[in-house]
Parts: sequence; structure tokens; C-alpha cells
Amino acid sequence: MNRKDFLAQVGIGAAIVLAPACIGGLAGCKKSSTSTLVDFTVDTSSGALATNGGFIVKDKVIVARTNSGTFIAVAAACTHEGTTVNYNASSNSFICPNHQAHFSSTGAVTQGPASTNLTQYKTTLTGTQLRVFS
Ligand code: FES
Repeated sequence: MNRKDFLAQVGIGAAIVLAPACIGGLAGCKKSSTSTLVDFTVDTSSGALATNGGFIVKDKVIVARTNSGTFIAVAAACTHEGTTVNYNASSNSFICPNHQAHFSSTGAVTQGPASTNLTQYKTTLTGTQLRVFS
């Protein structure tokens, strides 16, 4: 076997070994997504969400009722090291108690050390039932 034949066989062999990972549904070729589907409903007639400024954490999402009575929701895990953030009604922002990263009401970083925004979720209120979803 000469060099050309050897490379031709190795090349085909490598292609056969690597191909199934990408052919199998193409999922193996794509970068995996870190976002998670969110869709749940909470009752706002009692508990923390019944009062302006209150908040809850459910299914890794922090849901807050602002001082003006609107509802906002973002991912609860700080993007720095994963600590659950708190809602601060007076500044209408989310603050991480671990290293004091601040996030706006839409989840945008306003103070480090976090450098990545919190994922924002949608909310719709029907009566007292608040749907939180992505
Ligand atoms: S874990 Fe939130 S700022 Fe470090």
C-alpha cells in the first residue's frame, strides 16, 4: 500500500466513524441549547404575589409583582455562579445575594460580576391566574 492508498482508506474510515454522530437526527451536530421550556400558572390571589413588591421562586423562575402591580419573571439562577436572585421592589430589579450582581426588571445585567443577562419570561394574567411561559 502506498501513501496515497493509505490516506484514502484512513480518510474514508474517519468519515464513517464521525458521520453517525451528525447523521443521527442532526442533533449531535448542533450546539445544545441551554434554555429550558417554562410554562406554569400561579395563583396571585394569595401568598407573596398578592401584594405589590412580593415575589416567589417556582420551577427555577423568579416571579415578582412590581410596586405598580405588574408581574415580571426571569430565570432565578444568577448567571455568575447560580445563586438564586432576590427581587428588590424599591429599585424594581433583581439582586444576587452572593456577590451582589444586579439585573434590571427584564433580566439585563446592570452590575457585575455577572456578565450574562437572566432569561426573561412572559407573563399573562387571567383573573388571578398568572401564566409564566417562554
Ligand atoms: S453568584 Fe450571583 S453574583 Fe456571584
